[in-house]
Amino acid sequence: MRKLLIVGNWKMHLNASQASLLLHRLSERIKIHHDIEVVLAPSMLALQPLSTQIDRRKFRLASQNAYFHDEGAFTGEVSFTMLRELVHYGIIGHSERRHIFDEDLNMVRDKVAAAIRNEITPILCVGETKHERDEGETKQVLHDQLMTALSNLTAHEVGKTVIAYEPVWAIGQVAAKPDQVEAAVTYIRRYIGDVFNELAAKKVRVLYGGDVAPEVIHGLLAVPGIDGFLIGHSSLNYESFAGIVEAAHRWQRNRRSSGEGE
Ligand code: 13P
Repeated sequence: MRKLLIVGNWKMHLNASQASLLLHRLSERIKIHHDIEVVLAPSMLALQPLSTQIDRRKFRLASQNAYFHDEGAFTGEVSFTMLRELVHYGIIGHSERRHIFDEDLNMVRDKVAAAIRNEITPILCVGETKHERDEGETKQVLHDQLMTALSNLTAHEVGKTVIAYEPVWAIGQVAAKPDQVEAAVTYIRRYIGDVFNELAAKKVRVLYGGDVAPEVIHGLLAVPGIDGFLIGHSSLNYESFAGIVEAAHRWQRNRRSSGEGE
């Protein structure tokens, strides 16, 4: 059974002391769970102080971005090599990076390869815009993003990767409906099964992101094949985020006791 993964993407919010306070509040509310992984992605600046404060039985850290070269004359950039002692995960290809900072398919591919090279698990974000969905291009967009991003990876490496389906139109707006999420999750896993192998498709964890909040969490947890969530604004509110984590834990426990998903 794949472990549920709940990732809080704090985006460009909270300075280092505010981030430390939020971690403190979350630590008070979130218990140690062995069936669920909770990952926090603070700003680059807060990663170092949080890494010394964090209770590793409860949380892991992720970077929101990094550059694909390991070192060199790249003013303003931070590499996965520099991050490897601090983070387990690296968010790559978030739609805000693709659309605001013009990251193209090849750059995302190189970042995925750099994360793997540095033993950091990529959380690869994919997803269509509203226009692309309206034009019926969702599967084509997912296909193109997956094909390029995973093209330098072996099936074994793909199996260890996390894919986050984040439709651009849902982020900060309105969560996708469970059937829309199910269709994308099924497509992503089928693509990996077809192009790599069935073991990779079975192992890869597929998350959903886009306006995930406590009110919609139960409907989304029930989506077949979903392995967790990538959460933006609700992860900045400790009660909401802790509530989502505890709800996911209860869900997982109930599934186990009813023998589902083994
Ligand atoms: P929201 O949860 O704020 O919609 O953001 C989703 C997201 O972009 C997470 O990476």
